Parts: sequence; C-alpha cells; structure tokens
Amino acid sequence: MAQQKILIVDDEKLVRWSLRQKCEEWGYQVLEAEDGGTALRIAHNESPDAVLLDVRLPDLSGLEVLERLKQSGEGRAIILITGDPQLDDAKAAIKLGAYDFIGKPLDFDELGVTIQNALEATRLRTEVESLRGEVRRRTGYHDVVGVSRKMTELMNFVRKVAASEATTILIQGESGTGKDLIAKAIHYQSTRQDKPFVAINASAIPETLLEAELFGHERGAFTDAKAMKKGLFEVADEGTLFLDEIGELSPFLQAKMLRVLEDKVIRRVGGVRDIQVDVRVIAASNRDLERAVREGHFRQDLYYRLAIISIFIPPLRERKEDTLPLVDFFIDHYNRKFRKSIRGLTEETRRLLVNYDWPGNVRELKNAIERAMILEDEPDLRPTYLPFSVAQPHAGVTAFEHTSSPPAGGQPLENGRWLPPLLIPEGGTSLEEVERALVELALRQAGGNQTHAARLLDISRDALRYKMKKFGLMHADEEESAAPAGS
Ligand SMILES: Nc1ncnc2c1ncn2[C@@H]1O[C@H](COP(=O)(O)OP(=O)(O)OP(=O)(O)O)[C@@H](O)[C@H]1O
Ligand SMILES: [Mg+2]
Repeated sequence: MAQQKILIVDDEKLVRWSLRQKCEEWGYQVLEAEDGGTALRIAHNESPDAVLLDVRLPDLSGLEVLERLKQSGEGRAIILITGDPQLDDAKAAIKLGAYDFIGKPLDFDELGVTIQNALEATRLRTEVESLRGEVRRRTGYHDVVGVSRKMTELMNFVRKVAASEATTILIQGESGTGKDLIAKAIHYQSTRQDKPFVAINASAIPETLLEAELFGHERGAFTDAKAMKKGLFEVADEGTLFLDEIGELSPFLQAKMLRVLEDKVIRRVGGVRDIQVDVRVIAASNRDLERAVREGHFRQDLYYRLAIISIFIPPLRERKEDTLPLVDFFIDHYNRKFRKSIRGLTEETRRLLVNYDWPGNVRELKNAIERAMILEDEPDLRPTYLPFSVAQPHAGVTAFEHTSSPPAGGQPLENGRWLPPLLIPEGGTSLEEVERALVELALRQAGGNQTHAARLLDISRDALRYKMKKFGLMHADEEESAAPAGS
C-alpha cells in the first residue's frame, strides 16, 4: 500500500513538531498547517488520508474547518484534538462527521490506535460505497447485455419479477450464463434495492458452518460460539438473500429452508425463539433441479416452493446473436480497465467467436476477451491471442465432445443428425487430419464399439478398421485381423 498521508493542523509549532515525530515513526507521510485556511488549501491539493485537527485555530474554528473539509467531500478520516474537551463540541464534531475526538495532553498510544482505526473505517466505507456504486452500475438494466429474443424476453420477465411481491425465485442455467448477474439485477430493480443483498454459496461451506451462517447461533450453542451471531437471514432482513448452488444443500438444511420459506421465521442454532424475517430468497443452481428431485437428491416440496417463479437463462450457444454485443461490451469494459483503445475484431476473429459454442458461456467469452485485450497491440483483436479451443475449434476432437445435441454452428444432415461445426484455421489443415478426428470422435461417442462407430460414419466396419489402422488408432493385438479395404 502507498504511504498514507496525515495532515496536522495546529497553531502551536511545538505540538505540530511532536505530532510529526510520532506520525513519521508510525510510517505516515506528514503535512502541516498552522491555521484553518492553510489546512483547507493543503487538504484540497494533497488529499490527505487523515487530518488531525486542533479545535482552536487563529482564523477559523476547528468545527468550521471540519465542516468545510467534509463538504469538499473526499473520503478522509478527521480526528479532532482539543485542550479542554467539552461535550457539546465533541457531539457537534461527531455530528459533522469527525471520526473521533481526543483530549490534550495527548496520549500517543491512544492517538496511534485512533488514527489506525479511523483510516481503516474510512477505507472500508469508501470501499463499500464504491462497491455499491459499482454493483449498481453493473447491474442496471442496461448492463445485462442481450439482444436475442430469448434475452429480451427474459429481461422483461426479470423486471416484472423484481417489482412483484414474490419472495422466492429460482434461477437456473449452465455455469457462466449470468445467474449471479440476474440475481443482482432483480435485487437492484426491486423496492428492496436499498436493503442488503447477501450472497452465499451452499457448495462452498461445510454443512454445520452453513447452518450457523444462514441461521446464526446463540451464545454457547457449540464450543466455538463465544457470542451470539446473527445469521444471513437476519442480516438480509428486508433485502435479498442469494443462495447459490442450492442443489448442494443437505436434506437437513433443505427441510430447514422449506420452513423459513413457508413460515417466514428462523431460529438461531441453539435458540428457542422464533425470529420473524422478511427476506426475498433467490436460489440458483447450475444442476437440473427437477432431475435431482426425480433422483431423490432434492426435496420435491422445496423444489415446488422455489420454482413458483423460475427463470432459466439459456446457454450462450442458443442465443448467438448476443455474442458480438457482449464482445463490444467487454471490449469497452477492458479498454477502460486496462487503459487501452482496442477498436474491435478482425473479420477472422469475429467468425471464430460467433462459431465457437462457448461451453463456459458468457464467463468463458469474457475471459477470452480479457486475455486477448491484454496481449493485443493492434487496433483489432486478432485470432492469435484467442484461446486455443476457440481459434482451433476442430483440433483433435475435444472441441465438440460436449455437443450431444445439435452443436451450435453445426450443419443439419438429412438423417436428423448433425455435422459438427468445422472451421479451417488460417494456416490450413489436411483432410486426413479432419478424417482422423472424426474417426476418433465416432469411436469415442460409440464407447469403443466399432460396429456402432462405423454406423455413425456410414461406412462398413472393415472400412472403419482400415482407417483406424492407418491413423494408428488400433491396439496392437487387434491389428492382425484388420482387413484392408477401400472406403
Ligand atoms: N448478459 C450479460 N451481460 C453482461 N455480462 C454478463 C452477462 N451474463 C454474464 N455476464 C458476465 O459473465 C460472468 C459470469 O456470470 P455469472 O457469474 O453471473 O454466471 P453464473 O451463472 O452465476 O455462473 P456460475 O454457475 O459459475 O456461478 C460475470 O462476469 C458476468 O458479469
Ligand atoms: Mg454464480
């Protein structure tokens, strides 16, 4: 961290001198002012992190200086120092936004701690405020990018849901489709927007901790419970609780959850008292919850309770029109973040980005753009800096392994099957390489069953075995019986 600056304001030279010694010893950079006017000017020019301010100054009163420092608005910690602390002054000072009030003669240990606390509190407040602003900026309706019909319909629905009284909402979608983003969009478009938005991920925390985290605990509820602690339901009161990966909740917590949703009361761990809470619960899952219900891993009654209002975010490959608008949005974002001026994409990059089917969805796209923008020094992003899987979508077979249903960008065949999306890289390829990849893919898809794989490729089993041998895909002990055949 950069050295923090402290401005000392006192008309007595000796006081300034001794404060300077101490502050420098504590590692701060020190500025001095002997009167209020000078203090305001220095504060304006140098933006100190903290101000030690004597209440009695030759020109302005300390309180006046305090008020004007606060009006000029920058986040900084102000500590008042006075010879004869009067309670009224102290109260006024705190009201005007001073962090604390210290009497003379100064106790340097106390002063040191006060400065530290003041700096920390100011830093935290500034951070929270800027985060809050950031979240709002980023989740305002315009920052959920989407021009496809699926996304515009979804955003209309989200707006209605946000404004409704609904207290449980379920968001489902593959990883990286924007579940967190939509949850925040709901919160910040709702009447709860000025109340807390609290997020917790059920899969990231062991069950016993999760219970205490969600519901809180009374003092002495378990060995480490030295004091009462409020749970997130209480913290999020009147606001929104975002419960990510709800599919991972244990049966016990599923039952507890159902009770809160139905009765709107919680009980702390080790507690006997019901506590009323008014919380909108947004649950999210990237697993198919309905299937988890069928398989007996998730309570049906809880699922129905959650799914009253259910939002499904489609994977990016099913709304390809969103790809380029998202890219523009991310280029803009990283231009500002990295102070670059990338203009757009080359023709080839655009084709690759649109054709790739993004198994990691928007997150994967965002990461790809971030990486390319860090490395690119031309005005347009070139394919050179795209991740290998995007730039070489048909290298090996891995790129289309995950496409069990119609691969995005794939070509329909007459027999109801699909031809995988194939792109020839800039440097070219060989037909043999592609053929080999397809043979491998067919074998893999057929679980190694050669008859089945041959059928997938519409060739004879012998022809398949011939190709397998040619491409070195045959185990040595099988080679004997591989009959040579044309294709
Ligand atoms: N429509 C969108 N417009 C702009 N940015 C988006 C959009 N969808 C997702 N993003 C961005 O993509 C990244 C991933 O989104 P998010 O974290 O919300 O996904 P998720 O569905 O919660 O993923 P996971 O299941 O892994 O938790 C975030 O940086 C998010 O801001
Ligand atoms: Mg998420």
